[in-house]
Formats: sequence, structure tokens, C-alpha cells
Amino acid sequence: MPTKVSSLAVAALAAASLFGSSAAAPLALGSAASFEAELVKSDTVDSSAPQLNITYSSNYTEHLPRTLILATGGTIAGVSASDTDSTTYTAGVVGVEELVVAVPQLLNVSNIDGMQVSNVGSESITDAMALSLTKLVNNALCASNASYDAVVITHGTDTLEETAFFLDATVQCDKPVVVVGAMRPSTAVSADGPNNLLQAVTTAVAPEARERGTLIVMNDRICQAYFCQKANSNTVDTFESPEPGFIGGLLSDKPFFYSSASTPTFKRVYDLRNVSSLPPVEVLYGYQGTDLGLLDAAVERGAKGFVIAGTGAGSLSDTGAVNAAAVVDNGVPVVRSSKINVGFTVPSSLYPNTIAAGSLNPVKARRLLQILLALGKSPKEVKQAFEEPLQSYLTLDIKKYY
Ligand SMILES: *[C@@H]1O[C@H](CO)[C@@H](O)[C@H](O)[C@H]1NC(C)=O
Ligand SMILES: *[C@@H]1O[C@H](CO)[C@@H](O)[C@H](O)[C@H]1NC(C)=O
Ligand SMILES: *[C@@H]1O[C@H](CO)[C@@H](O)[C@H](O)[C@H]1NC(C)=O
Ligand SMILES: *[C@@H]1O[C@H](CO)[C@@H](O)[C@H](O)[C@H]1NC(C)=O
Ligand SMILES: *[C@@H]1O[C@H](CO)[C@@H](O)[C@H](O)[C@H]1NC(C)=O
Repeated sequence: MPTKVSSLAVAALAAASLFGSSAAAPLALGSAASFEAELVKSDTVDSSAPQLNITYSSNYTEHLPRTLILATGGTIAGVSASDTDSTTYTAGVVGVEELVVAVPQLLNVSNIDGMQVSNVGSESITDAMALSLTKLVNNALCASNASYDAVVITHGTDTLEETAFFLDATVQCDKPVVVVGAMRPSTAVSADGPNNLLQAVTTAVAPEARERGTLIVMNDRICQAYFCQKANSNTVDTFESPEPGFIGGLLSDKPFFYSSASTPTFKRVYDLRNVSSLPPVEVLYGYQGTDLGLLDAAVERGAKGFVIAGTGAGSLSDTGAVNAAAVVDNGVPVVRSSKINVGFTVPSSLYPNTIAAGSLNPVKARRLLQILLALGKSPKEVKQAFEEPLQSYLTLDIKKYY
């Protein structure tokens, strides 16, 4: 059972150190009393989590929060042979200590511990790495002996939304988790990594960042992992939250939020403490006349579930629908999402027994399906987990309320 731990004192201290000490602070984030949020902690340590291996610790400053930076690699740690080349370079070279040391301003907002969990481009983050990352985060933030106030993860942007969504769906407490990356390697003119990292840590330790789930902070903007996705292959303003929009931003590197804390109505959180691996789930892309013949080949290779990045609102071709129905009949779930990446895929009698992804884009739907299968959910439970939140809107009977 989760226990509630009052955090008023910690919150007040953090608020004072972040916002109270500087007369020039451009934004008042409210009084400390409004940060009286209760932090939910889970009370069990996950013994299957990797050990914390802290290789960088800042000198301890009292009255500052404690942030754990988990470095995974990516462009933010990338090195290019040329300071103008932002398209061909080696991702994941610079270590966590170098990242932090390059931004001494960090140490004025938080004590920092750093751990290098990997140093790869994010396209090479495996299911096993994602699973051990959430276990690390849960132990560092949510266990009863947790000593950190926030976790910041440095990550390549190519699959950043997948890790962020996965953490959002599996971290068991209300402390902030912020995922951050960069579009320009560390060697570029106007590298965006250092300021993004400062903004990520500053946001993560802001009391108002709590109870919002995992956040993505880049390029002066804050968005919720549930909705946030990469939207441009090259530019620094790549992360977007197309329908709900950004929940806040940063001015003079200080975070602000447009509304008080909220949780996406479609979001559910799952406990992976007993899970030791994620089942393989494949994504197939929709296009004119695709027959989804690859479904069978993927099942033979061991796929335990599918997400179709369908055309439009998750439509399947006539042959594709037949082939999808056949794998479902053999016990392999098929989730229909959309290659459009924005908008809803709704339950449809045209594709019996397939599951609608709702507002989840294909890669996020894949992560959710992996979580549900790893937890041994039945086909009915899997369908409910995806479709119930949306069904409650689609079946609204207004007469019930008047
Ligand atoms: C801890 O991390 C450092 C740097 O990545 C690595 O060299 C070392 O082997 C790690 N130690 C353990 C016990 O994992
Ligand atoms: C801690 O402070 C000492 C003394 O100022 C300094 O030599 C050392 O480099 C600092 N360590 C870190 C990790 O900043
Ligand atoms: C940290 O804050 C102190 C006191 O306000 C200031 O003198 C110092 O320049 C700051 N350091 C950085 C790196 O911003
Ligand atoms: C919490 O306790 C577990 C098990 O005793 C230990 O492995 C872990 O390192 C502890 N974590 C912290 C942050 O002290
Ligand atoms: C994990 O498994 C143990 C032993 O079967 C069980 O008691 C516990 O409730 C499970 N925890 C979760 C979060 O599933």
C-alpha cells in the first residue's frame, strides 16, 4: 500500500531557495502553502532494480533539493567533428559529469548526483533498458528510503517520447520526473543541451511540477509526457503537445505553469515491480493497399502483440482487416493507432476484436501494450485499459445527470 508523506517543509524550503531569494525573480509561483501537496510514496524497494551507481556528486548545499540525473546518451551528449554540423555526428559520447560541469548554474538550484545508465543514441534504447530505468526511478524517488526530490533523465530525442510515456505510466509517486534532450550536439554553435538541462533541473525541483506525471522540458517549454511528441526531425522546437498544448514554460530559466497540477483523464499508472521483461510488440505502418501480411512473419519471430500505425483514424485495408482478425483469433492482440500521430482512433465494429489506441500515437500505444501484456492482463482487460477512458466520453448519457 502506498503511504502519504507530508512534504510541506521540503516544499517550502525548495520554494524559498528557488524563488524567494532573488528579488529579480520574474514570476511569483504562489505562496508555499499552495505547495502543500502530499507526495505519495510506495513503501517497497524493488530488489530487481539496478544498483544506483553514482559517479558524480556535487558538493552538498543545504536548503537545496536533491536531483538525480540519469544519463542515457543522445545528442545532448553528442560530439561532432564540426561546430556547424547538426545532422551527422556521434550521439552519446559525453559523460554525465561533463554534462553537469558544463552548466555550473545547476548547482545554484539543486544538489546533483549523476549516474550513467547508458551512453547511446535513443534509437538503441532497448526494452530491457527502459524497464531497468523505471525501476531505478521508482527506487530513487518513490521507495520509503528514497532520498531524491526529483529525477532528470538526459536522453536522445528520437525516442524520448517513448521513454517519457513509459515512465509516466509506471512511476509510482508524485515527485517530478523530467526527460530532456537536445537537437544540436554539445560541440555545435548555440548547442541547446546546456540550457535545456538547466531548464529541466529547475523545472524538476519546482514544487509546482509535482503531481503532473513525467514531463518533457526543452526549448523553453514544458509538456506532459502523455501528450508530448517529437514533431520535427531537425529543429530545436521539435517537441509539441498538439491537441492539449504546453502546460507551461520557462522565463529567464524559471518555470511557470498555466494551470494547477492535473493528470490526463486517459492516463493509468501500472506497477512493474514484479516484471522482469517486456514482451516484444511490433509496429506496422499503414499505407495504400497494405495487406498486413507481415503480421504472420512477426508472430513467427516471437511478436506477442501489434500496433498498427493505421491510415487516418486507424483504418485498415480490407485484406489488412482480415489478416489482423486472424492473428487476434490466435491470441495476439492488435491495437489500431494512427500514422497521423495526432487525433483519436476509436473503437470500430469494422475491425472486430482489434483494440483502439484512443489518443495514443503508435509508439506510445506499443509501450502501453507491452506493460499490459507484461502484467499478464487478459485480452478483455487489455481492451478495457485502452478503450474504457474514451468509451466513458463516447457513451455520455446527459439525461443521467439532470
Ligand atoms: C559505475 O559506473 C561507472 C561509469 O559508468 C563504471 O565505470 C563502473 O563500472 C560502474 N560500476 C558498477 C559497480 O556498476
Ligand atoms: C567541491 O569543492 C571543492 C573545494 O572548493 C572543489 O575542489 C571540488 O572540485 C568540488 N567538487 C565538485 C564535485 O564540485
Ligand atoms: C550562484 O549564486 C551565487 C549567489 O547568488 C552567485 O554569486 C553565483 O554567480 C551563482 N553561480 C552561477 C554559476 O550562476
Ligand atoms: C534503499 O534500500 C535498498 C534496499 O535496502 C537499497 O538497495 C537502496 O540502495 C536504498 N536506497 C537509498 C536511496 O538509500
Ligand atoms: C508481486 O508479487 C508478490 C508475490 O507474489 C505479491 O505479493 C505482490 O503483491 C506483487 N506486487 C505487485 C506490485 O504486483
